[in-house]
Amino acid sequence: MSDIELDDSVKPTSAHSALTTIVEDGKEIKILRDNMPFGRPAHGEFGTYFIGYSRSPRTIEQMLENMFVGRPPGNYDRLLDFSRAVTGSLFFVPSATFFENVTQDQTFEDPPVVAESPAAPAVTEPSSSISSVRDGSLGIGSLKGDIQHE
Ligand code: HEM
Repeated sequence: MSDIELDDSVKPTSAHSALTTIVEDGKEIKILRDNMPFGRPAHGEFGTYFIGYSRSPRTIEQMLENMFVGRPPGNYDRLLDFSRAVTGSLFFVPSATFFENVTQDQTFEDPPVVAESPAAPAVTEPSSSISSVRDGSLGIGSLKGDIQHE
């Protein structure tokens, strides 16, 4: 037994590293990975905390789809024969540039006319259309067990 990676010509398409390789327009889209071993020996529970950083959630979602659904469907990641996903969350981490661009001036570039009108109420209610709409992405929520049911 060795830990030498199989050559692509003999590596099964169901291999973890095959299914998590995303190529778009001939270019591999990579992510930054942090894997921390985790264990509760007394409970017989062992695994990994996986954190993936990427410019767009689409890359990691595609990897997860390839792993769990399969590429093509059914050709799933054999890691899942002996491990299972317990939880998952998606976080948006704004860049410094993002914060620099979100200034008061730019946010309220076109102030609503009501703010200028003496007849209009000074305070307006937030639009109900933006209230707690779930986007069905990765079961986005907290790590406190806020499980999303489809
Ligand atoms: C049970 C959980 C997981 C285990 C045990 C695991 C394990 C591994 C291992 C051993 C490698 C090879 C590392 C190397 O050659 O340096 C790897 C690579 C990789 N994993 Fe995972 N992984 C897990 C979950 C995930 C998840 C959830 C994703 C993404 C959604 C992911 C994405 C990747 C990627 C992109 C690579 C690099 C593939 C390549 O281009 O060679 N992994 N993983």
